[in-house]
Amino acid sequence: MISFQVEDLNNQIDNIEFPEEVSLSLMEVLRAWNYPIPAICGGKGLCATCHVIVKNGLHQLQEPTERELDLLDILPDATYRSRLACQIRISNLIEGCLFHLQANKKSYSPC
Ligand code: FES
Repeated sequence: MISFQVEDLNNQIDNIEFPEEVSLSLMEVLRAWNYPIPAICGGKGLCATCHVIVKNGLHQLQEPTERELDLLDILPDATYRSRLACQIRISNLIEGCLFHLQANKKSYSPC
């Protein structure tokens, strides 16, 4: 099992455990847990409505692509700890991470 934490929009922290053999993105897992992630592009890395802040464990994650960084650059609330949850695969790399939800705040949305 992989375990990580999610801090919701009310700053409540939940512990999440998920089997490591699944082939899902963090965005898909968050939606499965009923977090309010619009994900209007379906995980293609185009809408930024899955924006999260990695409060713990940023440096253990796979590096973001240039395309992801370009989209994060235009978000008004992005920080150096920002990532797109749809671009993070569930793997041992996220063990112990703490993700703060930014979706539905002031993230960019083309719709
Ligand atoms: S779901 Fe659209 S960028 Fe992640």
